[in-house]
Amino acid sequence: MDDNDRAKIELRQNGPLVVKGLTSMVGEDGAELEAKPVMALCRCGQSRTKPFCDGSHKEAGFLSENLTPAAGRDRLIAYQGAEVTITYNPLLCSHTAECGRLARHIFNPDQKPWIQPDNGTRDEVSSAVAACPSGALALIGPEHLVPERAEIKVEKNGPYWVTGPSVAAPSPGEGACTDKFVLCRCGHSGNKPYCDGSHRDKGWKSQS
Ligand code: SF4
Ligand code: FES
Repeated sequence: MDDNDRAKIELRQNGPLVVKGLTSMVGEDGAELEAKPVMALCRCGQSRTKPFCDGSHKEAGFLSENLTPAAGRDRLIAYQGAEVTITYNPLLCSHTAECGRLARHIFNPDQKPWIQPDNGTRDEVSSAVAACPSGALALIGPEHLVPERAEIKVEKNGPYWVTGPSVAAPSPGEGACTDKFVLCRCGHSGNKPYCDGSHRDKGWKSQS
């Protein structure tokens, strides 16, 4: 995609994400939301009109810098199979568990190692890597398998799944993908503006 045509996400200090030029946005329930040319999305976790900002960050005293260390370590781990090698960076993982939902025989935290590429077919591996919203999973290359459609999906009780738009922030970690990543919307991440899975550890709910 031409960089000039690309939707952009800007960060407001101690305030929302400002999205410009996005045409597709999907809500928590899977229904399309109206995507306006400029949208302010809540990232403090306190708005009463989520996913949009209603100014609550001010009264909540939200700080956009990281006050706590990130929940995962920034390292790229390779899981080698006979046909395919999968890489995983724990820092990038938002713990959505899409991988386990699609192919638990390959991605299973109860097995050691938790990723076993040879437990499934190449297609099953590719589908799960493509569905990983954070870019924590890739095929060696690295190849992240990014959906064509530029959009932001709002995960219930979780982060924004971004595919396509650029964000005005440094890379979140080793092997990260510039076209597919997850952005914090609970305010608790230690790797802001990216999600580090802290919403799950804190039990954050998007609807109170
Ligand atoms: S972010 Fe990716 S690696 Fe982490 S649980 Fe979700 S699908 Fe699996
Ligand atoms: S960032 Fe403005 S209300 Fe949450």
